[in-house]
Amino acid sequence: MSGGTALSGRVRVTGAKNSALKLMAAALLAPGRTAIDEVPDILDVAIMSEVLRRLGCDVTYERTPGSGGGGRVVVDVPEKPSTETDYDLVRRMRASISVLGPLVARCGSARVALPGGDAIGSRGLDMHISGLERLGATIVSEHGFLVATAPRLTGTSIWLDFPSVGATENLVMAAVLAEGTTVIDNAAREPEIVDLCSMLTAMGARIDGAGTSTITVEGVEGLSPVECTTVPDRIVAGTWAIGAVMTQGDVVVERAVAEHLTVALDKLTDAGATVETLPDGFRVAMQDRPRAVDVVTLPFPGFPTDLQPMAVALAAVSTGTALITENVFEGRFMFVNELVRLGADVRIDGHHAVVRGRERLSSAPVLATDIRAGAGLVLAGLVSDGVTEVQDVHHVDRGYPDFVEQLRGLGVRIERTQRPA
Ligand code: UD1
Repeated sequence: MSGGTALSGRVRVTGAKNSALKLMAAALLAPGRTAIDEVPDILDVAIMSEVLRRLGCDVTYERTPGSGGGGRVVVDVPEKPSTETDYDLVRRMRASISVLGPLVARCGSARVALPGGDAIGSRGLDMHISGLERLGATIVSEHGFLVATAPRLTGTSIWLDFPSVGATENLVMAAVLAEGTTVIDNAAREPEIVDLCSMLTAMGARIDGAGTSTITVEGVEGLSPVECTTVPDRIVAGTWAIGAVMTQGDVVVERAVAEHLTVALDKLTDAGATVETLPDGFRVAMQDRPRAVDVVTLPFPGFPTDLQPMAVALAAVSTGTALITENVFEGRFMFVNELVRLGADVRIDGHHAVVRGRERLSSAPVLATDIRAGAGLVLAGLVSDGVTEVQDVHHVDRGYPDFVEQLRGLGVRIERTQRPA
């Protein structure tokens, strides 16, 4: 990709990967045909489709033209799904673990392989496990699998030590079919949790407090399949917004929800950008070199950890020095070594990064280590002199449908020299 072009034009975001995968898992809770729209056409959706197929579901995907890389998934769930998810799938996508809650609730048992190491930290499952145990499941770890059994789950009160997104989702999906009332305290409040709870409510679940720290679920006997639409991807939208500011461009992000990115958009305003909320999205424009802004990642509504690599890339070309603090995932600064290869001045101390801005970066071959780090490196390539080659770009494909095509639509000279995995 050649640096030096200001991003300019319109781009549409489809549904959030981090919601669509959980909505697909939630389909397991009801026999019959569930349809989900605005599902991004990315590798992780193909992996989740395979997870569901091996559980006995019939899964189809059809692209929706003009949607910005989205489509419709239809999951046809059998009366009696199988209950085992193998390591070959969980290893490729950790979010496969979100079938655990629905399977235990619906089938009374589940065998889901334990995910292995992860490029962005240890990412334990303790809150998923202890929460399901409090709901009455027996969980043992054997031969690399988590084996959960529970003839019928029973409502209870659960306090999460940290507002984990995945644990909140797994526990809500288990509690909807439990006997009695479950209260989850210190629950995650992300828009993707609200999206999941809306789908479950449409299926017949009784849920109160989604989007707050206390979620109350009154168990029901059974759920019905539905048709629903995935919430827009705030991380993809935030990536475009930061890209517009870094390149001193002007971008309209269609279908983005500004309230899902309040802190991030405020930071961009602090950096000197003009942010305008539109009826169906927002516009971000930047005239000068951005000013350095400090960023602290936190669970929603804080600054999203998934946008942290983009925040570091932004600071790398801002005027002044920024302190970026990562509070959600240990090890999420590993990509910084690659950014330094592009000439960025970044010093890491534990979970802090001190970034001294430079006028421009300098192109080099760099390696994408995960989805978001890869996107951050692509943004850095946009402000590097010369031609930057981002290798292992299949990581970026996992989170950004049609990324290369969309960048091209915004004026970037970019080509893919490696096929998607
Ligand atoms: C989800 C998102 C990911 C995002 C993250 C935080 C998906 C597929 N992924 O990941 O993109 O960065 O939310 O917004 O939706 N933890 C434990 N024990 C547990 C569960 C979590 O210690 O039982 C820790 C993790 O190691 C991490 C922190 O809690 O340090 C946050 O994890 P969590 O919110 O669960 O993130 P995920 O659901 O894995």
